[in-house]
Amino acid sequence: MSLNADPGWLRWTPRAVQPTDVAGEFDAAAGTYDGLVGASPGYHEQLRLSAKRMQLPRGGAGLRLLDVGCGTGASTAALLAAAPEATIIGVDASAGMLEQARAKSWPSTVSFVHAPAEDLDEGGLQEPFDGIFAAYLVRNLADPDSVLRTLRDLLRPGAPLAVHDYSLSGSLASKALWTAVCWGVIIPLGGVRSGRTVLYRYLWRSVLRFDRAVVLVARLRRVGFTHVTADPVPGWERTIVHTFIARCGGDTA
Ligand SMILES: C[S@@+](CC[C@H](N)C(=O)[O-])C[C@H]1O[C@@H](n2cnc3c(N)ncnc32)[C@H](O)[C@@H]1O
Repeated sequence: MSLNADPGWLRWTPRAVQPTDVAGEFDAAAGTYDGLVGASPGYHEQLRLSAKRMQLPRGGAGLRLLDVGCGTGASTAALLAAAPEATIIGVDASAGMLEQARAKSWPSTVSFVHAPAEDLDEGGLQEPFDGIFAAYLVRNLADPDSVLRTLRDLLRPGAPLAVHDYSLSGSLASKALWTAVCWGVIIPLGGVRSGRTVLYRYLWRSVLRFDRAVVLVARLRRVGFTHVTADPVPGWERTIVHTFIARCGGDTA
């Protein structure tokens, strides 16, 4: 399916983006992505909060961290703020998003790799990692369980996976708020800035379809994480955005 054939501005079409098209659609949006998320109140603060919730010790000294689905590097920057001494690898399936990330200024301890989450071996990404951040990624995966199992296997025992995503509390109010924000702000703004709305309409729908917070907790347990917590972000998005911290084995009490 060619996403370039999207007829555009606010026009509903059955040619909706599928998980398999996601990287290509992010390629197309890469140039305007930072501007859009920068206009989203709290976006960077929330990423920093989720990275902080990983409780990485010693400012990250001696740690090797992975930011999977790093995009233009917003989540990588959050991870770097939480663990400035760590070695950090950002990985993404979209070459366009990675180009934006690489164009930014990073310490020599930060690097980027082009590979899909489904085949991290392709990018030479092997265990062990001392922490993995997955911000706004899991919802986009065709087979989240399989990728989450891979991420679990890449982690040292007891090390944290942080999943940061739009995962609704499930109340009617959370769905109504999400729909109002999407159709009142995100989709029109995305259309004005990028000239196309397919990614933003996909965002709206993918969140409604995605796991509610309790369901994502159950999914993380099902794929083998033994210690899982879910915490909302503060503020108006508290029923919409959550941090999930998942660990298995090690001293996770
Ligand atoms: C919404 S962006 C989030 C980027 C960044 N983590 C942030 O917080 O700003 C989602 C990113 O996940 C990437 N992505 C989606 N599916 C992927 C997959 N299967 N493997 C690797 N990256 C993927 C997209 O290319 C995109 O850059």
